[in-house]
Amino acid sequence: MDRKIRIAVAGCGSRGQDTYSKILMNMQDKAEIVAAADIDPEKLEGMRRLTGIPESACYASAEEMLEQPRLADVMLICTPDRCHYTEAKAALEKDYDLLLEKPIATQADQCRELSELALSRGRKVVVCHVLRYTPFYQEIKRLIDSGIIGRVVNIQAMEQVCYWHQAHSFVRGNWRNADLSSCMILQKCCHDMDILLWLTGKHCRRVSSFGDLSLFRAENAPEGSAARCVDCKAKDCPYNAVDFYLSEYRRTGDEWPQNVVAFAPDEEKLMAALREGPYGRCVYHCDNNVVDHQVVNLELEDGATVNFTMTAFTAHGGRTLRVGGTMGELYCEMKANTIRVMRYGQEDQVIDVRKLADDFSGHGGGDARLVQEFMELIRGEIGVSGTLTSIDRSVESHLVALGAEESRLAGGKPVVFA
Ligand SMILES: NC(=O)c1ccc[n+]([C@@H]2O[C@H](COP(=O)([O-])OP(=O)(O)OC[C@H]3O[C@@H](n4cnc5c(N)ncnc54)[C@H](O)[C@@H]3O)[C@@H](O)[C@H]2O)c1
Repeated sequence: MDRKIRIAVAGCGSRGQDTYSKILMNMQDKAEIVAAADIDPEKLEGMRRLTGIPESACYASAEEMLEQPRLADVMLICTPDRCHYTEAKAALEKDYDLLLEKPIATQADQCRELSELALSRGRKVVVCHVLRYTPFYQEIKRLIDSGIIGRVVNIQAMEQVCYWHQAHSFVRGNWRNADLSSCMILQKCCHDMDILLWLTGKHCRRVSSFGDLSLFRAENAPEGSAARCVDCKAKDCPYNAVDFYLSEYRRTGDEWPQNVVAFAPDEEKLMAALREGPYGRCVYHCDNNVVDHQVVNLELEDGATVNFTMTAFTAHGGRTLRVGGTMGELYCEMKANTIRVMRYGQEDQVIDVRKLADDFSGHGGGDARLVQEFMELIRGEIGVSGTLTSIDRSVESHLVALGAEESRLAGGKPVVFA
């Protein structure tokens, strides 16, 4: 395609605006943002300033934008989880190609339906499984596919959500309540299910799971706590919002996560938001219900097993992975960007992934590469088979995550896939 790709953005928050639109603004020879929608006027105004689109191209909701005749080639769907299904469906019916934030939808039949709709209408839909695009996971995939550790028999994977990230997103924030967003194992860990299936190249036969909300409940509130951290008298609480967000602001400026607490924050705006908004609430007095720890067991089609843990109870964030093969083992730490290759009976070799690429910004370099590849796909420079995360490939990760939740709610009873 010779002309620029025209893009409409639905949901101009952290992903739609701060991540994808900023990346796209550096690709102006190839792409042009022509319309945007958000229910928050401040976000829309931010989008107008960032992209220069006229007020007439700004819509008060994705639904309103979708009522218009087709405005662009592509729609970015970056609204909250529960909006994805109806918006993606309406956008596909209007023949938009989509960059669709995960989760595809919150129910299994909706995920399948959207995948089938994309296929029947010949639309390109890429789901934002950013991890696949990181140099870290690409190197692990290369190593596994090279056969250096033989046949993969067992994987132990861990998603260390970290105590403050749990408090920010999953106790106070938008993903705190499964009835308002989706269950933790889908919203946070469909990425992990996706990466485990992609790395092994295998399908899942059975899944079982345990987990619960252990800490962030009213009965665990310490003495002296109050509904809001500004009024709290409890001592030594690592979840104190005022201490946390102010010190993060002083350390990193208007970055995530403080730019979620207040748009374009300064100390005054942050304090106002902590006095009145959701992020100033005591972690023991929120309307949260998603789990803070969960284990998931997968049995793959060839009998290989995977044991995955998601936990809030870590000091630092990041994913780790131990891949056990018949000839050797990989130990992989995403935060450190290192992969230890341990061929049985031979000397260990450590791969420093930072030496393999230049850009590790945004999800370990995944955000920018995802957008880059999506643009190549839409411009026809690569085919659908060349893209890493088309919707038909992504659906299984969602079915496994939803199966894990079904199992957890049934006390760990395995869910079998046909
Ligand atoms: N791929 C990833 O790694 C990744 C990371 C974070 C979030 N996400 C997903 O991206 C999506 C957006 O997350 P976020 O962090 O940007 O959240 P956010 O809250 O920062 O942004 C969502 C935006 O959507 C707007 N919105 C709500 N309802 C709307 C509607 N009907 N029409 C238009 N706009 C509407 C909100 O006002 C907000 O600005 C979520 O589904 C989330 O699960 C994916």
